[in-house]
Amino acid sequence: MKQFFRISVAVVSTMIAGSALAEGDVEAGGMLADKYCVRCHDISVDGAFKTYPPSFASIAVFRDSDQIRSRILFPQLHTPMPQMGFLLDPENIDDLTAYIVSLEKKPE
Ligand code: HEC
Repeated sequence: MKQFFRISVAVVSTMIAGSALAEGDVEAGGMLADKYCVRCHDISVDGAFKTYPPSFASIAVFRDSDQIRSRILFPQLHTPMPQMGFLLDPENIDDLTAYIVSLEKKPE
């Protein structure tokens, strides 16, 4: 039952985040993350804090969507984070941003 409740909360919060961010598609972003990001980042909703690179779930907590988008486009220099702006088009970046934002856990 508790598990069911958790899943419902996740689905509803994904829907809320999705509607707030009309420009990005959460599901498409999840698929892109699975293709391009998972080899370095933990992209799951249960990603831990204090990992390197940071898990997407932790980024969702401490960054807002504009910050996330700009860090995908313009990563910190001299780190392994690839210059994704060269590989992905702006729509992809919006979808990835929407996916990361959707991972923020709301208080139950
Ligand atoms: C080759 C490994 C690698 C891949 C692949 C990668 N990243 Fe990163 N990413 C990193 C590292 C390392 C950092 C931390 C950079 C630093 O030290 O600030 C990072 C940082 C980030 C940050 C900023 C985190 C913060 O400080 O707020 C975001 C957002 C991000 N990555 C998103 C993505 C997305 C989206 C993808 C897939 C499209 C991706 N990354 C693919 C290694 C990677």
